[in-house]
Amino acid sequence: MPKITSVIGLGYLGVTQAAVLASLGHRVLGIDPDQTKIDSLNAGKVPFFEPELQELLESGIRSGLLTFDTAISESAKEVDVHFICVGTPSKSDGSEVDTSFLHKALEQLAPFLKQNSTIVGRSTVPVGTAATLENYLFSITDTKFDLVWNPEFLSEGTAVRDSLKPERIVIGTNSQKGESALRDIYKKIIDKNVPVFTIDRQTSELVKVASNAFLALKISYINGVAEIAEKTGASTAKLADAMGLDTRIGRKFLNNGLGFGGGCLPKDLAGFASVAKATGAKHFGELLDSVNSINSDRRQHVHSLAVELLGNVAGKKITVLGAAFKPNTDDIRLSPGLLLAEELRREGAFVTIHDPIALPKVSEMYPKLIQGETIESAAADADLLIVATEWSDYKELDATKLRAIVKRPALIDARNILPSVEWRRLGWNIKQLGEGS
Ligand code: UDX
Repeated sequence: MPKITSVIGLGYLGVTQAAVLASLGHRVLGIDPDQTKIDSLNAGKVPFFEPELQELLESGIRSGLLTFDTAISESAKEVDVHFICVGTPSKSDGSEVDTSFLHKALEQLAPFLKQNSTIVGRSTVPVGTAATLENYLFSITDTKFDLVWNPEFLSEGTAVRDSLKPERIVIGTNSQKGESALRDIYKKIIDKNVPVFTIDRQTSELVKVASNAFLALKISYINGVAEIAEKTGASTAKLADAMGLDTRIGRKFLNNGLGFGGGCLPKDLAGFASVAKATGAKHFGELLDSVNSINSDRRQHVHSLAVELLGNVAGKKITVLGAAFKPNTDDIRLSPGLLLAEELRREGAFVTIHDPIALPKVSEMYPKLIQGETIESAAADADLLIVATEWSDYKELDATKLRAIVKRPALIDARNILPSVEWRRLGWNIKQLGEGS
């Protein structure tokens, strides 16, 4: 049965959640205080890049099921299920998670809460947050509600597909009513044979961060192996293929390179390390800290390779290909390539950055980086090219054409996507990470 829902917080997760709920036939009221964002969404324009989302948003608006507003108001009194998708950023010291936006959302929601409605937390939170929020809401309203946790596992770049056909739906609740409210909402998805995992709220909170920290660990594991491979003449890519054939290990998330970035893995890893230490899991906390250190080391390693190739980077023209933290998104949060570009610029290099779609986001945060509109204009006269993101455009780079426009044919393939033998044959000094020979 179609329900009336709200989605509070319209970032990458919230907009996707709102459009997906509408596509399932539910009425959706999307809420975010950012007027520019709301204007854009009401005009049918996704305010960031996410494949397949634009079409889903347009059809939700066309059907009349999807509307957006800047504040929770009277219309929220009809809502059966509220999805809370606000951000949970790291606090300024980088370790703990700031859950204040969740409290704010509940504070604004409380006066408009319908009797017996369900509140569904989708944001990634430290364990125990749902219980704290529930107590907080008890203290400011007499209205009866269920607070369920339903962590999201979508990846940017495949968010729509991940939402419509997830590998699992985790429902964190002890309330049968809360569980059945969510089962109703997701019925069309569950009917596609998607496993539903109903557990207590603490476990559901932990599943998300434990999963993300494990993915980060997998990446740092292979990046640590890459350090050894480089010194011993081994090939990390071939080794990962062989390791990945063991179904207990699996090949996914074993691509070595410049390491992980984005709005989730680094934040969740740091938050989980801090929970580990706070609960006395000292060595586990240290393990998670090492995952983070190995990740930073890879950026440092590419930096050292640049110095090795150029002597001094000051005064040299370096072109970084890839601003987004991974392909198929315009998200530049903690993008390893951009962090590296900025470090090189601070040391006096003239750094030009290129990206197929993320450049408009770069100006605001990194105003001093030069932007190259095309690969060719970015690479012209370069002393060094660095491939920082594995966009498909870069997999097709033309070694001969580029050789004719750069100053020196030097390239660091920090995502291991180019055929290095061919590039060397065409006169390039090309370095790949984790490749010893
Ligand atoms: C992640 C989780 O995958 C997702 O389940 C969760 O809901 C949100 O956080 P996302 O941040 O979109 O998703 O990116 P992800 O695909 O996990 O990649 C994270 C980073 O790891 C990227 O910078 C990527 O380039 C890097 N990465 C990934 C590697 O360096 N090697 C790999 O093998 C895989």
